[in-house]
Parts: sequence; C-alpha cells; structure tokens
Amino acid sequence: MVGSTNWHPVCLASDLLKLPRAFSLGGKQLVVFRGKSGQPVVLEDRCIHRNMRLSLGKVCAGALKCPFHGWQYHADGVVLDSDGKQAGSNTARYQAAEYSGVIWTKSGMNESALPCLESSDVQLVAVTRSSASVPIELMLDIFLEAEHTTTTHSIFGYDERRVTELKCDIEIDDARIRVTNEGPPKRLLWPLSLLLGFKGKDLFVDEFEAEFDPLRICYNHYTRRSKDDSLALLTKMHMYFRPETESSSEVFAFLCMSKKHLYSSALLRPIVSYIGKMIVDSELQADMDMLDHLMVKDIDAAPMVGGRFDHAMHAQRRLLKKHYYGGHRERSQHTSTQSSTAPVKGSRR
Ligand code: FES
Ligand SMILES: [Fe+2]
Repeated sequence: MVGSTNWHPVCLASDLLKLPRAFSLGGKQLVVFRGKSGQPVVLEDRCIHRNMRLSLGKVCAGALKCPFHGWQYHADGVVLDSDGKQAGSNTARYQAAEYSGVIWTKSGMNESALPCLESSDVQLVAVTRSSASVPIELMLDIFLEAEHTTTTHSIFGYDERRVTELKCDIEIDDARIRVTNEGPPKRLLWPLSLLLGFKGKDLFVDEFEAEFDPLRICYNHYTRRSKDDSLALLTKMHMYFRPETESSSEVFAFLCMSKKHLYSSALLRPIVSYIGKMIVDSELQADMDMLDHLMVKDIDAAPMVGGRFDHAMHAQRRLLKKHYYGGHRERSQHTSTQSSTAPVKGSRR
C-alpha cells in the first residue's frame, strides 16, 4: 500500500508543539517535528544508526534527537552523531508545509500546489480531524452518500421522515464523482436554524465532487425556498483524506462559510466559528463511530446490497485504484470481521 505522492494532511498545526509526532501514510511510518524556526519537518520514523523510532526522541534547538544514542536530525537534512560529526548517510525526508491550520506532507518531488481552500465568497471558519479503523474505501463510502445523514446525524442532513422526497443525482466520469442531493432538511431548533442560515421550509441542497489525487471531496451546501428558486450558498466543506494503514484512515474537514451569512458580522464571527467547529466535530464523530462498528471491514463492494444512494461505491474503488494508487491497489487483506460483540470505542485521537 503506497499511493499518491501528492499533498496529504498530517495533523492539526495546534497539535504539533514541542514533541515530535508519529504518523502513518500509505503504510509508511513517519515522524513530524518543528525545526528551529517552527517549520514542520517530516522524516521516516527510523534512525539510520540502529533503527530506533525517532518519534520517541525529543526536539532540541530545532533538531530531532534520537532517544537511543542521541544522534540529531536537523531540518536541513544534516544528521550528526553523538560526537557532533556528520553521519555518512541520511534518512528519507518528505516535503512539509503548514497551511490553513494543518501540517501537510508529500513524498513526491512534483511541483503540485497546496490545496486552495478559501475563495472570494467563502472564508475558512474551522478545521477538524477524525479517524476510523477502516480502509480508505470504507471511509470514502460514508462521505459519498446522504442516506446515512437521515439517521446517523443529529444536525446535518435530511429529514428521516421525508427521505422519499430526497432526490439524489450521481454523475461519474473518468476522474470524478459528482453528487447532488436535494430534499427537506432535518428540523432544527430555531436558534440553530438561524445560525446555519435555514429558514422555515427551505430545501437543503448538498452538492459535492470527489477527486482521487489528491484525495478529497469538496461540498457546497445551499438552501432554497422551492425547486424554482435560486440557490443560496451556506457553507463549503473541504474534506481531505489520508490512508494511514490498510485498516485505518483519517479525514480532515475544513469548514468555510459564506461571507454573506451571519459570519460576515465581526461581532458574531467567534460564536459562529465556535459552534460551527462543534457541530462538524460531533457529526464527524458520529460518522467515525458508525465506521468503527462495521461488522465486516473488507473493501470488496460486491457482496454488499446497494440502495439508490450507493451508485458511487463501485466507481469510487475504480477511480481510487486508477488515480490514487496508479492502478496498483493491492486488494486489502484486512477483512477484520468483528466476531466480538463488545463495542468498539470511538477513535477520535
Ligand atoms: S539508534 Fe538512533 S542514535 Fe542510535
Ligand atoms: Fe456523515
């Protein structure tokens, strides 16, 4: 399992302080730390001396010090042994950047740019991350259908009692999946409706596009009075995904709000940001809990019985393999059938 060499999110910038952090990308064990000027540095999590985990070391004056014999890894790639002499070799190093509240990395030397999250009509409000013990295909499945929002979510999504009115259009081409859902939203308490920009009997439109290199889904959320009315943009949500191992995946959500919305009021901005982050956090956790509780975590979609919302499932696997894995996705051996009835703990880390 390797995958794309494009930019991936690693961790929230606020979670990378003085200590190094271990993480996985495509099955590789990596470590991130902050160099002398605070810039993120990503290395293979293995000391070139005698293979100790560098992530167990500490950062001294911007260099990562191995806990075993004290060799030091500097941000410019220089490795010094315990005598202070330059080691004859180096360790694998990845490009790293801090952007929009997140640390990003990529393994390729290609010139691909960091994602563009804000635009003239929206502003970034909140960033959050979640993970689940499932292969990336199963993580993507839940973000490609709206049916689960009727039951899994408590605020975001569609009214369970009127699910038959929920329209779902799915378009698939050689590179992308586009989905438009439209229907009656959940009934919310009026302060929340006001904050989110819903009015009384508005329809909720959830329109999104999935791309596979980089691995992301961009959502536009609109409301409108009736089908003939024009769409009013509420939020844009960018989701970026990182396959950690064959059996675990992570998602980073960037919530952007329309500048026309309440968010444009300087007075209300901190409140809207705070509540927006809280909602995204709790709704994502609901998704992750569902994924963690799946009985079978095989990526093979064939034995599953798809409903009218699930047409993207097979295409997702095909496009992921083609674009993200360059056509060489090994079939996951992680069939992890949970035979135990013990509940799996939610996996926010
Ligand atoms: S194993 Fe890292 S310094 Fe020896
Ligand atoms: Fe969801």
